[in-house]
Amino acid sequence: MGTVETIHAAVARLGPGPLTEAGLVEHIHPLFARVLERNARTNEIYLANHSLGRPLDASADDVQEAMDLWYTDMDRAWDAWLCEREAYRDRIARLIGRSDRTAVVPKTSAAQGLRAVLNALPARVPHVVTTRGEFDSIDFVLKAYAHRGRARVDWVPCDPDARFDAERIRQAIKPGIDLVIVSRVFFATGQLLQNIDRIIARAREVNARVLVDAYHAAGVLPESMDALGCDAMIGGNYKYTRGMAGACWLALGDRMLTPGGVPAVDCPAPVDTGWFAKAEPFAYHRTELPEYAPGGDGWLEATPPILTYYQSRAGLELTLALGVDRLRDYALRQLAFLREQLHERRVSTRLINPEPADHANYLLIPVDDGHHACKRLRDAGVNADARPSPAGSPWFVRLCPDILTTEQEMADAAERIAGVLSPARTEHS
Ligand SMILES: Cc1ncc(COP(=O)(O)O)c(C=O)c1O
Repeated sequence: MGTVETIHAAVARLGPGPLTEAGLVEHIHPLFARVLERNARTNEIYLANHSLGRPLDASADDVQEAMDLWYTDMDRAWDAWLCEREAYRDRIARLIGRSDRTAVVPKTSAAQGLRAVLNALPARVPHVVTTRGEFDSIDFVLKAYAHRGRARVDWVPCDPDARFDAERIRQAIKPGIDLVIVSRVFFATGQLLQNIDRIIARAREVNARVLVDAYHAAGVLPESMDALGCDAMIGGNYKYTRGMAGACWLALGDRMLTPGGVPAVDCPAPVDTGWFAKAEPFAYHRTELPEYAPGGDGWLEATPPILTYYQSRAGLELTLALGVDRLRDYALRQLAFLREQLHERRVSTRLINPEPADHANYLLIPVDDGHHACKRLRDAGVNADARPSPAGSPWFVRLCPDILTTEQEMADAAERIAGVLSPARTEHS
């Protein structure tokens, strides 16, 4: 049986209905024998799943399959490799609810997707609205563009409690704005941006486009890009979808797509391009003006990085087969359990809002020095990370269980954390 069949058979044995620890341990954990063996060997409790997800055993076999094709088929391997690229686009389209599979363009980083959109806009110096809470890669790209005079950027700060407010972002969207860039989930705090639809509606009024960073949302929240109606979305697979680094994507809304051919100057058209964006790359036909393939295919670039489609296959298939809605429901139950375990041991957590649905899949513990706290946690056998608050201080230790994390592990982790992090500051929740 191949990877896809093995995964689907395992998920079928789970049956329908909410995920349970017993079912996952029996039917899904065996797909992760290699990484679970590491748990036993290291005695480490892994709670950094929001940072780097844990791979299925099949991922290594999938990469091997791509390599084997090269050895056995040489240049004929391209047929299978390009089929896998299409399968990758299809998996991402299903993951994010984009009905047009070709509107998904493989990228090797989220920043690459952002740059492709910035460079494709008709404005020579696009005027951008964004927040002070975007991930460092996005933040840095925008600062680099602004520094070289290639973009004007208006930054929306967070509130004193480190929350970003859709209304405040909305107010920054004035006539003349070309692009709005917002996270669906803010990486440092896990805040899920409510009322994002109001931002998109306001952007429409002034003919601005909206790019949503869905890195902490895709595979976490059951959502549909079609329904959201944004113009672009960026994300990647090394976290929740267990696809390792380099397997990222840019998804485009209908307003970013053209019927193909030579684009009109006032339409978005990618200049981060290459011969795979031509309608028939293998015809070797040249025209004086750039004639693009229609739709999302016109956003493809040059010779693609084949291995990324294979390395992410198993993780994406598992996520899709389990269902993002069931995964989200299970994650919320796990977070409630972990929070309770921590509170019982007098460790305070930050809850952005009493509504659990207002945050993504990790819990936060505020600390003064994130580096120091994480080192102490690691020494105690808890693998977590920390990020500074967008308000300046404190830092937040981020804790993210996943379907491999048992309640016993969460209770043990809470015990270890309580031994390391003194009862803190914080809005106790
Ligand atoms: C919100 C968000 N965006 C983007 C990224 C990754 O960006 P890039 O692929 O450009 O390194 C991350 C990584 O943690 C992230 O949390």
